[in-house]
Formats: sequence, structure tokens, C-alpha cells
Amino acid sequence: MNPSQRIVFIGAGHMAEALARALLSAGAAAASDLFVTDVAPTRITHFRTRYGIAGSDDNADAARTADILVLAVKPQNMAEVCQGLAGALARDPLVLSIAAGVPTARIEAWLGDSPRVVRAMPNTPALVGAGVTAIAPGRRATPADLNRADRLLSASGAVVRVEEKDLDAVTAVSGSGPAYVFYLAEAMREAATRLGLALNVADLLVRHTILGAGQLLEADEDASPEELRCRVTSKGGTTEAAMAILEAREVRTALIEAVQAAAARARKLSESG
Ligand SMILES: NC(=O)c1ccc[n+]([C@@H]2O[C@H](COP(=O)([O-])OP(=O)(O)OC[C@H]3O[C@@H](n4cnc5c(N)ncnc54)[C@H](OP(=O)(O)O)[C@@H]3O)[C@@H](O)[C@H]2O)c1
Repeated sequence: MNPSQRIVFIGAGHMAEALARALLSAGAAAASDLFVTDVAPTRITHFRTRYGIAGSDDNADAARTADILVLAVKPQNMAEVCQGLAGALARDPLVLSIAAGVPTARIEAWLGDSPRVVRAMPNTPALVGAGVTAIAPGRRATPADLNRADRLLSASGAVVRVEEKDLDAVTAVSGSGPAYVFYLAEAMREAATRLGLALNVADLLVRHTILGAGQLLEADEDASPEELRCRVTSKGGTTEAAMAILEAREVRTALIEAVQAAAARARKLSESG
């Protein structure tokens, strides 16, 4: 990331904090390159005291100074926020929206002045630098804009480029995805305590099993998830007994249907928002 670029976050919430922190810890930006705005004074104070990042409650004034303008408010606040920024994009910044389900065409129309918009779908592991973000260009975004968005977001994890039409599927898979894994963790923890393990033991076993499995998936890129599963499933063994129940209860089908339902909901929200 070019350190002289000024990155302004509109909305200083959880995701803005995750990205700002990732940029600082990766050395991709200095605190003086970053600026935040928020309606809540406590958030401005938090960014200043915790990270040395300045901020204000004046979105338009901050946007005028931006080379990269990150829209990080809730989707329901996007119309009002973008309309308030119309005419304030003095430096023709790259506009990077992380708002779920808000199409670039709508953002372009609200902002006016034909802005260059890139839409991103991050996920919460960005909070620990282990996120994955899909990015898609709007009508006027250039390949150089996509590269800039990619560099900025890679501070918080992996980045993949897709077409905007695929973002509803991305939302269902990786945006909501951490919740599916946490659900698995909840069930495994409950099973462990029912088997008589103390809660602290159950908790440690489950957290580290999921972490370790994730690291194996990442480290052994040549092996498919199915191959990795088969390696721990010997004939007549314990894992096979467990898998038989999961298959009989059609857990795989339920998961596929769950992700499809999330994608359908994402599509509906994008259309209606
Ligand atoms: N969290 C996730 O897992 C996740 C994943 C992917 C994408 N996203 C997207 O990231 C965006 C931000 O999510 P988040 O979880 O960081 O939300 P958040 O914590 O609620 O942050 C949004 C911040 O914007 C502030 N705000 C509201 N109206 C504003 C305005 N007019 N001007 C300036 N600031 C304003 C909010 O203040 P108040 O709270 O006082 O209203 C809040 O501090 C959302 O669009 C979401 O779709 C989130």
C-alpha cells in the first residue's frame, strides 16, 4: 500500500476497526494515513486513544481529503450516508464499500459524479487478520482500483476477485460462514460435556480442533477436504461411527440447503434495499 494515500473510513464500527488495525499491524499504513468518521463520539475517542487515528463526525469534510474512501456503515445507513457525500469526492477517490447487499449501481447513483466503486464482502475473522474478502468492481472501477482494493484488504487476510453477481453466493459462503463453524463448535462442546468432560476441557479441545483442522486445510493445499477427512476415518474406527450418523441424518444436505437459503436471502436484500 502506498503510504502517502489517505484512507478515510466512513463509519468507525467493528469492520472499520478490523481493517484499520490490520493495516497498522501489517505496516501497510501509518496511523497518520488513516482517518475515521462516526456519529458516535465514543468511537472517535476509541480510535484516537487506541490507535492514534484521528476522526470527526463530519463525513463530507473527511471525504474531501480521501484517496480511498471506505464506506463501513450498516447497509440501512448507506443511502443517507452516500447522499450526504455527493459533491464531496473532491479527489476522485477510490470508493470501497463493505456494506453487505448494497449494489455498486445504487452507490454510484447516490454519490453522483460517476465515482469509481469497488464492492467488498469481508468476514469477521478479519478481526484477527485471518479474514477472506471477495471484491468486485463497479462500472467505472479500473484494474488499478481493483489492485488498490486488493492490497488494502489483504492486510486483513486473503482476497479473491469475483464478478458482482457472485457476491450473494460469497455472502452465503464466507460472509455467514464463520457462524456455521461456530455452530459446529457449539454442538461439539455440548457433546463433549454430555460425555462427562469438564467445560473448560471441552472448550479447549473444540477450539483447538477447529483451529488445527483449519490450519491443516490451509497447509495441505493439494488435499481436498474429503481427502483430509478420509485420512482420519479408518475402516471400522471411531470417526467412521460418527460419520455414519452425520450421513444418516443428512447433515451434508442440511448444510447445503442452509448456504442456499443464505444466498437467497442475500439476493432478496440486495434487490429490496
Ligand atoms: N460484521 C460483519 O461480520 C460484516 C461482514 C461483512 C460485511 N460487513 C459490513 O460492514 C459494514 C459495517 O459493519 P459493522 O459490523 O462494522 O457495523 P457497526 O459496528 O455498526 O459499524 C458501523 C458504524 O457506523 C456508525 N454510523 C451510523 N450512521 C453513520 C453515519 N451517518 N455517519 C457515520 N457513521 C455512522 C455506527 O454508529 P451507531 O452504531 O451509533 O449507529 C457504527 O459505529 C456493514 O455494512 C456490514 O454489512 C460486516
